[in-house]
Amino acid sequence: MGIQCVGVIGAGTMGNGIAHVFARSGYDVVLCDVEQRFLDRGLDTIGKNLDREVTKGKITAADKATTLGRITPVLDRENLADCELVIEAATERFEIKAEIFRNLDQLTRPDVILASNTSSISITKIATLTKRPDKVIGMHFFNPVPVMKLVEVIRGLATSQGTFEAVRDLAVKLEKTPVEVNDAPGFVSNRVLMPLLNEAMFAVMEGVATAQAVDEVFKLGMAHPMGPLTLADFIGLDVCLDIMRVLQDGLGDPKYRPCPLLIKMVDAGWLGRKSGRGFYSYS
Ligand code: 3HC
Repeated sequence: MGIQCVGVIGAGTMGNGIAHVFARSGYDVVLCDVEQRFLDRGLDTIGKNLDREVTKGKITAADKATTLGRITPVLDRENLADCELVIEAATERFEIKAEIFRNLDQLTRPDVILASNTSSISITKIATLTKRPDKVIGMHFFNPVPVMKLVEVIRGLATSQGTFEAVRDLAVKLEKTPVEVNDAPGFVSNRVLMPLLNEAMFAVMEGVATAQAVDEVFKLGMAHPMGPLTLADFIGLDVCLDIMRVLQDGLGDPKYRPCPLLIKMVDAGWLGRKSGRGFYSYS
């Protein structure tokens, strides 16, 4: 039986983007978060991002209304009981995800696939929290979700071939390109991206160049759409630090140590674009 109703846990940047692309592709979405204001903000963002698509002539105003109409915001996870797939996009902390997956395992039918949008936490470890490790998988989207084509599909050690194929096919239906990777700290995307951003921070900290100069090098020399420090601010410096720590703990090589400047900035509450200040100021 095909999947029609999808649950999304977390209405933040990634969760609202995931809800957006599923609803735009015709799926019914139950969007769940812990506070009404998070749901309101998430829906507001989806509305604004759909407006971009209306302005560009990619969809009509009627399509926007239909897409929004497919999303049901909820506070109570019990409302996910009838979903045929649930994607968790909550805060990137193992304890938070652990509580959610234990709960989802009880709430949803045993045949339902439970996916995580984690950017680096082990899918194999998350799967052990459930009685269905074969149906747990990573479905890693990229910010901004409506724009970025990639879905990194991560197989935990116990993920079945059927679960992998279902999620891979779903990504194609969302007009995304799935790329299969095995479970390892940071998977492929963040295993390679985060040390680049971290090294760019070392270059700034050591006075090799300014943040602007480092970014210009990558934009003009390597055709990156954003330089590494602009990108770090865009992702969130707290998220970058959390991922570096997962790489450091999981791989043990000192080359993954977080840049002291990154730690200092996070301690100061300079988290990048979302807090108004990071390597750059945002007003
Ligand atoms: N939501 C929806 N659409 C958006 C958007 C958003 N938040 N931001 C931009 N867009 C759309 C615009 O409407 C525009 O659409 P069009 O192509 O139809 O005209 C298109 O994206 C390009 O936007 P702009 O012209 O306004 O601006 P840019 O050309 O500067 O592109 C960008 C913006 C797409 C964000 C580009 O700078 C980019 O690709 N940056 C790199 C992003 C990146 O690397 N993301 C991955 C982060 S890592 C991650 O997510 C993994 C995690 O685990 C850490």
